[in-house]
Amino acid sequence: MSLVEVVQRIAGPWLMLADAAYYLPATIVGLVRSRNWSTLFSWSKFQSAWFGRFWAYMGPQVRMGVEPIVVPLLKGRVSHGKKLEEGEELSTVPLPVSGTVIEVGPGSGMWVSVFKEIGITTAKGTEEETIHKRKNASSTEVSTSGGITKIYGVEPNAGQHTALRQRVHDAGMDDVYEIIPVGIQDVAAAENAITANSVDCVVTVLCLCSIPEPQKNIRALYDYLKPGGRMYVFEHVCNRKHWSIYLYQKWINLFWPLMVGGCELQRDTGRYLREAGPWSNVDLSPLAGELWFQSVPHVVGVLTK
Ligand SMILES: C[S@@+](CC[C@H](N)C(=O)[O-])C[C@H]1O[C@@H](n2cnc3c(N)ncnc32)[C@H](O)[C@@H]1O
Repeated sequence: MSLVEVVQRIAGPWLMLADAAYYLPATIVGLVRSRNWSTLFSWSKFQSAWFGRFWAYMGPQVRMGVEPIVVPLLKGRVSHGKKLEEGEELSTVPLPVSGTVIEVGPGSGMWVSVFKEIGITTAKGTEEETIHKRKNASSTEVSTSGGITKIYGVEPNAGQHTALRQRVHDAGMDDVYEIIPVGIQDVAAAENAITANSVDCVVTVLCLCSIPEPQKNIRALYDYLKPGGRMYVFEHVCNRKHWSIYLYQKWINLFWPLMVGGCELQRDTGRYLREAGPWSNVDLSPLAGELWFQSVPHVVGVLTK
């Protein structure tokens, strides 16, 4: 690894904060121009509006950086923290996302096109492109293949919905992808509530850092899964490899949540996931190639209920 890369991995969060700061004046001016006083004078609404503008720019950049691992993750080609090589098979190879899916915090829909690539199964069963037959006829039987039948995109930030809806439309998935416009903590009380033991897969990409009461709400995600259901995870977590980076993260985290839509840098999300309930298989590891000085380290993998 070159010295430049080392510096980037340590100083990366400051660049992200600088980018977030850049969108602050434009957010204020936009709200004043549209006379949206209720958003301007409510911190939570303002923070969401600010993050929405920032993520419209940053989302695609972040996607480019993480797609080499997230795309294979969703397609069932990641194990032990790394992408499986061509032809490499393990005794317990993860499966692609399928069946009824909750996507937590989809933001502007960076992964919608990947769901489309995996394959959509509609009730009619005759869509133009990748169509598979739905294999799990009964609602309690978990889907292990055969495409995606339904996606609930649980996204509370209304500022992201227009872009998300557009990407869903562009992918021809209007009938399959439903936006649930609340936080994951409010899904049980939402209209058309999702019930326990009813979904085949949960997808979380860089969002468990932002949800409130992570332990409680990750347990709720576990509950939504059918027995045998799978949770696909790519999340950044606290650095437990070296105390100096842990303290460094703690320092950055004084500003980070304020400027990055409530995101927390030091969540022990890997542990919360493992402890969410009895899993039949846990293939969740630190992302291969990240070293002790990584200021934003990640965990990646699939947990099976
Ligand atoms: C860093 S963005 C990631 C977006 C997307 N997953 C991606 O990879 O581009 C985090 C997302 O989590 C969403 N979020 C924040 N609080 C949430 C909550 N309580 N429930 C569900 N999503 C939430 C934010 O609105 C935001 O869209």
